[in-house]
Formats: sequence, C-alpha cells, structure tokens
Amino acid sequence: MLMPYFAFLRGVSVNRIGRTGVVLTTASVISFLFFEILHTMGVFINAYFGLITYLAFPLVFAVGLLLIPIGWRKYQKSTGKTAKELLSAKFNKKDIAAAPGGSRLFRTILVFTIMNVVLLSVASLRMLHFMDQAEFCGTACHTVMNPEWVTYQKSPHARVLCVECHVGQGIDALFKSKLNGIRQMYLAAFRLYNTPIPTPVHQLRPARETCERCHWPEKFYGGRLVTTVSYKTDSSSTPVYTTLNLKIDAGLSGHKAGAHWHISKAHRVEYTSVEDRREKIILVRFLQPDSSYREYRNNHILSDEKESGGTRTLDCIDCHNRATHIYKDMEKAIDFAVYAGRISRELPFIKQRAMAVLNNRYASHQAAFEYIRKGMEGYYKQKLVEKPEEKKNLLEEAINCLQDIYTKNVHPDMKIYWKTFQSYAGHHGCFRCHNDHVVDNTGKPIRHDCTMCHSVLSQESGHPYEYLFKKGEREQSLQDYYSREFLNVEF
Ligand code: HEC
Ligand code: HEC
Ligand code: HEC
Ligand code: HEC
Ligand code: HEC
Repeated sequence: MLMPYFAFLRGVSVNRIGRTGVVLTTASVISFLFFEILHTMGVFINAYFGLITYLAFPLVFAVGLLLIPIGWRKYQKSTGKTAKELLSAKFNKKDIAAAPGGSRLFRTILVFTIMNVVLLSVASLRMLHFMDQAEFCGTACHTVMNPEWVTYQKSPHARVLCVECHVGQGIDALFKSKLNGIRQMYLAAFRLYNTPIPTPVHQLRPARETCERCHWPEKFYGGRLVTTVSYKTDSSSTPVYTTLNLKIDAGLSGHKAGAHWHISKAHRVEYTSVEDRREKIILVRFLQPDSSYREYRNNHILSDEKESGGTRTLDCIDCHNRATHIYKDMEKAIDFAVYAGRISRELPFIKQRAMAVLNNRYASHQAAFEYIRKGMEGYYKQKLVEKPEEKKNLLEEAINCLQDIYTKNVHPDMKIYWKTFQSYAGHHGCFRCHNDHVVDNTGKPIRHDCTMCHSVLSQESGHPYEYLFKKGEREQSLQDYYSREFLNVEF
C-alpha cells in the first residue's frame, strides 16, 4: 500500500537539492513525532527541547518541503525537458495515467499535501501552547528571566501562567506578544537587554483583562488583620509584634472605604508621573459623583521634570507591582526565617549578624555563598561555648538559610540588589500621592492621617495579641487568650 509513496519520493529526488529536501522533511517528521511522544510522556520539561521540537523541526520540515520543487525546477532547466517529458521519465505509466479521481500521482500529491498541512498546523498549535508555559518563559533565556522565574515560583500566583498576566486574551494580544517575543529572543541572544529589566512594564495588559478575570474589584470589603513579628538586634533577638487592621474595602454602597476605593466601579483615579516612571507623581485627579474632576498637583516638581507618556488610570498594578515577582525586604526575610525556625535565636545576636552578612553587594552568587559562610563562621568561632556541638548544627542551618535568602532575592548578574524592586502596596507606594506636597488649588493635600489606611492595633509590643487585652488582664494564662480568639500570625 505504501509503494506509491516510496515511488513518489524516489521520483522527486531528481538531484542533490531534491534529495536533500526529501531527507530533511522525512527526518524532521520522524524526530518531531519522537520528541513529541517524549514530551507527552513528561520526559522533557527543558525549554531547549521544546524549542527544538516545536520551532526547529517544523522549520527544517518547511525548508525541506520548499527544496523539493526548487530541485525539480533546477533539474527541468538543466535538462531542457518539459514537465510532461520529465514526469514520464521519472514515473511509470500507471502513475500518470488519467483516472476518474485524478491520476495516481495526483492523488499521492494530494495525500502528501493534506498530511503536510495537518502536520504544520498541529506543530504550530503545539508551539503556541508550549510557548505559553511558565517553564518556557522562565527558563528559555536563562540569566535574563531567572530573577522573575525564581520569585514567581514562590508567589501566590505560582500556578498562574506568565502569559495570563503579561499577554492577556485575544488574537491581537497573542500576535503582539509573539512579535515582541521574537525581538526579545534577539536581544537576549546578543545580550542587548538592560540590567535590571526596566520597570514599569508599559506593555503589560490593562489589569481589567488580566487580574480582574480572577479578582473582582467589587469583592473587596472590610479589613485585613495582619500581625507581623520582627526581632530586635539584642543578644537574644527578642521578638516584637505589630498588628494592623488594613482597610481594603472598595467603599461600595456606603462602606467605609480602604485601599480598593481607587479601583471600584464608581471611582476613577488618574495621574501623570515624571517620565512615566510612576515614581514621582506630577498630577492626580479623581472623578467625583457629579462627574467633575478634583485635581491635586505635586508642588515639589522641578521645571525640568516632565511626563513623557499620557495620563494613566490607576489600576491594580499601581499598587500590586510586586504581586508575583516578590523580592523580599532583607529584614523581613530574616524575620520570617527566624519565625519559621530556620534560623535559631539560640545563636547570640543572630538577627544582628544576619543583617550584617546579608547587607552587602557580593559580586556573584558564588561569592555570596563563600562570604556569608566566612562572615558567620568567623564571628561565631569563639562564641559558642555552651553546647558547642548542638550550636554548630544550628549555625550550619542558619548559614544555609541565609545563603538561600540572598540568592533568591539578590541577583548580581542582573544588577538586582536589596530594594531594587520595591512594592508599592505599602508606605513607599501610597505616599507617592498621600503626602503633604500633593495639594489641590486651595493648598489642601490628599488625606494621609495614620488611621485612614489602617488602624495600628499594636506596635512593636511584646505579645502578639496584646491588642486583645484589657488593661490589667495581661497576667492571665496564654491558653486563655488563645481560646478566646484564634488568630494566625501572618507575613
Ligand atoms: C499574577 C500576574 C503575573 C504573573 C503570573 C507573571 N507576572 Fe511578570 N509581572 C507582573 C507585574 C504586575 C509586573 C510589574 C510591572 C511593573 O512594575 O510595571 C511584572 C514584571 C515582570 C518583569 C519585569 C521585571 C520585574 O521583575 O518587574 C518580567 C521580566 C516578568 N514580569 C516576567 C515574568 C515571567 C517570566 C513570568 C512567568 C514565569 C511572569 N512574569 C509571571 C505580573 C505577573
Ligand atoms: C488566574 C487567576 C489569577 C490572576 C490572573 C491573578 N490572580 Fe491574584 N491571586 C489568584 C489566587 C488564586 C490567589 C490566592 C493565592 C493563595 O492564597 O495562595 C491570588 C492572590 C493575590 C493576592 C494576595 C496575595 C497575598 O499575599 O495574600 C494579590 C495582592 C493578588 N492576587 C493580586 C493580583 C494582581 C495584581 C493580578 C494582576 C497582575 C492578579 N492577582 C492576577 C489568582 C489570580
Ligand atoms: C491603591 C492601592 C491598591 C490598588 C489600586 C489595588 N490594591 Fe489590592 N491591596 C492593596 C493593599 C494596601 C492591600 C493589603 C496589603 C497587605 O495585606 O499587605 C491589598 C490587598 C489585596 C488582596 C488581598 C485581599 C485579602 O482579602 O486579603 C488582593 C487579592 C488584592 N489586593 C488584589 C487587587 C486587585 C486585583 C486590584 C485591581 C483590581 C487591586 N488589588 C488594586 C492596595 C491596592
Ligand atoms: C496615584 C495616586 C494615589 C496613590 C498611589 C494612592 N492613592 Fe489613595 N487616594 C488618591 C486620591 C486622589 C484619593 C482621593 C482623595 C480625596 O478624597 O480627595 C485617594 C483616597 C484614598 C482613600 C480614601 C477613600 C475615601 O474613603 O475617601 C484611601 C483609604 C486610600 N486612598 C488609600 C491608599 C493606599 C492604602 C494606598 C497605597 C497602597 C494609596 N491610597 C495609594 C490617590 C492615590
Ligand atoms: C495612604 C495609606 C497609609 C497611610 C496614610 C499610613 N499608612 Fe501605615 N501602612 C499602609 C499600608 C498599605 C501598610 C501595609 C504595608 C505592608 O503590608 O507591608 C502600612 C503599614 C504600616 C505599619 C507596619 C509596618 C510593618 O513593616 O509591618 C506601621 C507601623 C504603620 N503603617 C504606621 C503608620 C503610621 C504611624 C502612619 C501615620 C504617619 C501611617 N502608617 C500612615 C498605608 C498607610
């Protein structure tokens, strides 16, 4: 049954070009199928195998396919024969004899063409799907995306695909992102990218098409109770607790509003910033119920500081710029590790030492590994007098943990250090607008009193639930307090 196909392949292999075409197409189909089976079985998750399977093989296949008619034309020219003469020289009579559904040769070509179209379509769809995988985006260009990939994997959105936030839905978004992707591959290949990758990312899709597919602005209400622990720099790294009731209400139907007031359906806040960097605000205005705008201007703007883009409508990303690529604050990362038991308070002055060894710009991750170990071992060499063996293990654990914190959050090869990327969902971000010098035409600033965004229920207190105590009740047993109200300590 396969005989006519072999005969056909032999027939079109008229010269070296034609033969190369046949070899390339056949080899790429076989390799594609082989790799595809391995992929489906989950053998490869590496970006390069994906690139080879879905990009290189189909490309080779298409080139091979083109070579066949080119070879045929060349052969025809060199022999001076007509197509008809050539056909009867290369194929036997049965193949080219006219028949009801077209000659056998015609039918063979038809079958091959259908097969090719199906194969290329499947490969293209598989390629698009593959390029949407987080592994591809995160690892295809190695160093460039590594910081984002590392932070992504530990974030609340570790199961959300990169493209769901960066590309959005629709053919238009898909097309633009693929074109952009090709440009980025080129930049990555020739190391023409900026370090660090500049933010804000202006081509990010509007939050309405990304974040708001999963989070509804109308669904934010009430407050969020947050208790954080931090450790002092004394010898026993004493814990202190801060509890805030963060107001996150969107302020619908007369609720007392909080942070999500800006993005609720009823409100709109617009702003311009210096060079469109979203860092230093020039002008803010918001739509009032009577459809007029109320405007505030920054009176600290210098004459040469100009906006370069247009007006931006404030959305999720103006506060949650670090929703996924969360580079931790150094001190908070240490505090969390102590809280989680990965760094022991039995090591004297551990909080202070940890800060000292991490607060450096090491030239590479390799250097960081080395110097963090040296810095810790050097300090504790003479200090661990009591139970030295036990403490040695604790020190080893602490060193491993500090190395881990440093390499996850600081990336010297992309010039990302502590505070290079800061979250706007805190004082740094809010105070861009809520401060003394962003004022309306009467000189009145946007509100920024301490109880507007949160109530501080306790600050740096000795007990996590101190705010629940009545005066004088402090001495009751802990058990009693915990059973009264169960609350988790959050970070
Ligand atoms: C939940 C949404 C979301 C997901 C998922 C997501 N990102 Fe992002 N990404 C953002 C936001 C928001 C920014 C910050 C934009 C800004 O500051 O203007 C950003 C910024 C970036 C930047 C610019 C540099 C930086 O660190 O801010 C890169 C590069 C990036 N993302 C790559 C990725 C890659 C690769 C993945 C998948 C492994 C991914 N992103 C997944 C939302 C997301
Ligand atoms: C595909 C759905 C999806 C998309 C798109 C998405 N998120 Fe989320 N997001 C989630 C889920 C699910 C969680 C809860 C994760 C958890 O609790 O572990 C979450 C959690 C969060 C949190 C709370 C994190 C915390 O510490 O509690 C914030 C803030 C957030 N998302 C902001 C955003 C922003 C901003 C965007 C757009 C750039 C976005 N999300 C896009 C699904 C999504
Ligand atoms: C004006 C700043 C601001 C804007 C705009 C904003 N948020 Fe928030 N959001 C906050 C703050 C502040 C918190 C509390 C942060 C914390 O817990 O540390 C928060 C908390 C959240 C949480 C956690 C809520 C919970 O119940 O614990 C999610 C999810 C979230 N935001 C998503 C979004 C999304 C999606 C948008 C856009 C539709 C958005 N936010 C717009 C400031 C903002
Ligand atoms: C781009 C500027 C801008 C940023 C950034 C910003 N705000 Fe606002 N915010 C405003 C403006 C403008 C108003 C309305 C002021 C008025 O009522 O005159 C407002 C109002 C509010 C209100 C009061 C809503 C009410 O009931 O009237 C809260 C609460 C609030 N912001 C919290 C925050 C928090 C928290 C952050 C940071 C996470 C933040 N804002 C960041 C511009 C901003
Ligand atoms: C415009 C809104 C806004 C105003 C005004 C504001 N804060 Fe905050 N504050 C926040 C947000 C948002 C956070 C949460 C940051 C986070 O989760 O990391 C916060 C966090 C805090 C924390 C906890 C810090 C930590 O690291 O745990 C303290 C303490 C605090 N604020 C005190 C104050 C005081 C004192 C004032 C008055 C001078 C004030 N805030 C005014 C928005 C505001």
